[in-house]
Amino acid sequence: MREIPVILIGVGGVGQALLRQIVANRGLHAEQYGLRLHLRAVADSQGAVIALDAELSDATLAEVIAVKASGRPLIEHPDGGPQGDLVGVIDVAAHPGALVVDCTASDATVPALLYSLEQGYKLVLANKKPLTMEQEVYHRLTSAGGASHVRHLGRTRWETTCGAALPVIAALNRLAASGDAVERIAGAFSGTLGYVMTGLQEGRAFSDVVREAHKLGYTEPDPRDDLGGIDVARKALILARGLGWPLDLADVEVTGLYPAEMESLSVADFLDALPQLDADFAGQVQRAAAEGKVFRFAATVANGQCRVGPTLVDGASPLGQLSGTDNLVEFYTRWYSPNPLVIQGRGAGVDATASGVLADMVELTYTT
Ligand SMILES: NC(=O)c1ccc[n+]([C@@H]2O[C@H](COP(=O)([O-])OP(=O)(O)OC[C@H]3O[C@@H](n4cnc5c(N)ncnc54)[C@H](OP(=O)(O)O)[C@@H]3O)[C@@H](O)[C@H]2O)c1
Repeated sequence: MREIPVILIGVGGVGQALLRQIVANRGLHAEQYGLRLHLRAVADSQGAVIALDAELSDATLAEVIAVKASGRPLIEHPDGGPQGDLVGVIDVAAHPGALVVDCTASDATVPALLYSLEQGYKLVLANKKPLTMEQEVYHRLTSAGGASHVRHLGRTRWETTCGAALPVIAALNRLAASGDAVERIAGAFSGTLGYVMTGLQEGRAFSDVVREAHKLGYTEPDPRDDLGGIDVARKALILARGLGWPLDLADVEVTGLYPAEMESLSVADFLDALPQLDADFAGQVQRAAAEGKVFRFAATVANGQCRVGPTLVDGASPLGQLSGTDNLVEFYTRWYSPNPLVIQGRGAGVDATASGVLADMVELTYTT
């Protein structure tokens, strides 16, 4: 049995789901892969629980999940202690062959991630931020263990940074490995924005759909975090960098769904002010329909550039046919033309995302 030391950074929704899935899949991993994932440490923003013996027991992991699910910090776990320094946690807890898994949404993990690679450990990232900082950080994170032009054959996996567990990065890497020239990628990478655009297409008022999505908890507490498009911009940048394009986040052209002057409003005032945008959106949807097009909040990666924002697409295209909260990606390449390679499905949710992280972990176990 191969025993793989694991350090999990971030025990929010995805991190907790991952711990549950690791425990639930122990039999499968043992029988099919001859593998046992040994949790050596789990860390949140304030504390960590570190194994004193070979691994944290499944009972301890259940307590970790219970503490975090009740909204408490890991420091309050009976075996928890403060963590001021993730590098220190990794230093104490990791062993050769370790997997370090980043399920935070913070760039504060970067020193620990780089340190892990220096030690020869492997990385799985659900966190987009480290991959959308300076290009030098991206290259160091993704190239370790592989030649720079074959990043995906190295010691890092980041499938869930783009479309959750959908195999978007895997598809991109396979196209690259086969020498198929990717001419354009177009995708809908936000379930929340998909919901809003579907509502608009059904003839509903913009303010009505956004307020409903907010009330149902489909948006972030401040809906501008979704409507501004920055999360989609990070995903587009990760795809562009995956194609080898030397772009930074500032190079991504982002058009959000509200004007800059609404940025300074409180959340309540923003929601109250939304009706002033209704007529403009309704007009745009009607004009699009008159041309046989539909309005999508899309990321477009083409001609060395990334654009993110409301986009008119052909109503008959896969993206044009999309409705609801699914993510969808079209790859237009030399061999996938005129019809694109299409990947569609759930692009968010803690369990789906955790399943993608777990798949990355198992795959990496077989990478030297
Ligand atoms: N949720 C989804 O559907 C989904 C889909 C695809 C990708 N993702 C990505 O997956 C990641 C995790 O998402 P989530 O929904 O689980 O987020 P979350 O619920 O906000 O959890 C984030 C976790 O990271 C911890 N954290 C923050 N800063 C830290 C630091 N400096 N050191 C150690 N831990 C730190 C937080 O600690 P505290 O508990 O102490 O605050 C928390 O446990 C994000 O990057 C997200 O973009 C999520």
